[in-house]
Amino acid sequence: MDGNGRWAQERGLPRFSGHKAGVETVRSVVEECVKLNIGVLTLFAFSSENWRRPAKEVSLLMDLFMLALNREVKRLKRNNVRLRIIGDHSGFPAKLQAKILEAEEMTVTCTGLVLQIAANYGGRWDLTQAARNIARQAANGQLVPEAITEDMLSGQLTTAGLPDPDLFIRTGGEQRLSNFLLWQSAYAELYMTDVLWPDFNPDVFKQALLNFSGRQRRFGRTTEQVKASAGVQEND
Ligand code: IPE
Ligand code: MG
Repeated sequence: MDGNGRWAQERGLPRFSGHKAGVETVRSVVEECVKLNIGVLTLFAFSSENWRRPAKEVSLLMDLFMLALNREVKRLKRNNVRLRIIGDHSGFPAKLQAKILEAEEMTVTCTGLVLQIAANYGGRWDLTQAARNIARQAANGQLVPEAITEDMLSGQLTTAGLPDPDLFIRTGGEQRLSNFLLWQSAYAELYMTDVLWPDFNPDVFKQALLNFSGRQRRFGRTTEQVKASAGVQEND
């Protein structure tokens, strides 16, 4: 979700107004995902590197995160959305940590869309904490190195149990991953748009989905193989 600051600056507003507008966009995108029956939506809200921003902006973002959790959780529950906050919670103020747990708990029985908010998240951090967990098991004698497989490592990431993302959308015009879901996005289709996050709306989302539906996903195979297996499925 990139481009909040520029959206505000273009309007002569403080950057924070862009972040507030960005929360409105989150609400509309979540509702669109519910309508479209999408299984999992993961939003990159705050990276482990965003602490480097001016202290004032960081503290306003923390306040906004708290406010959004307070305001939106009931609506999520009504929409049967299960909320998960992925990232290093220990970096947040104690009150926010408690609110995160409470919000997750409130939607724990929801069975519809899984909404993951990545906050104080970094793909490298995710892999590092997974490596640490695995090493701990090995050091305890519960695991031999040969037992470490890709599936096992996936199971130690914060996204354990969820499918890898099919589509990776970045708004705001940059062409980079910026340390988001690095392992999980190995085969994600990338869609970069110049649209700034507060301007992202159901129409832009549909364009991204339409573009995605035209991609051929080969996962290392040849076009012929993919066509042949699609043919088999059609004839089933
Ligand atoms: C994304 O918008 C929101 C966060 C990273 C919190 P930016 O704040 O990065 O907006 P730009 O890139 O300055 O426009
Ligand atoms: Mg940015």
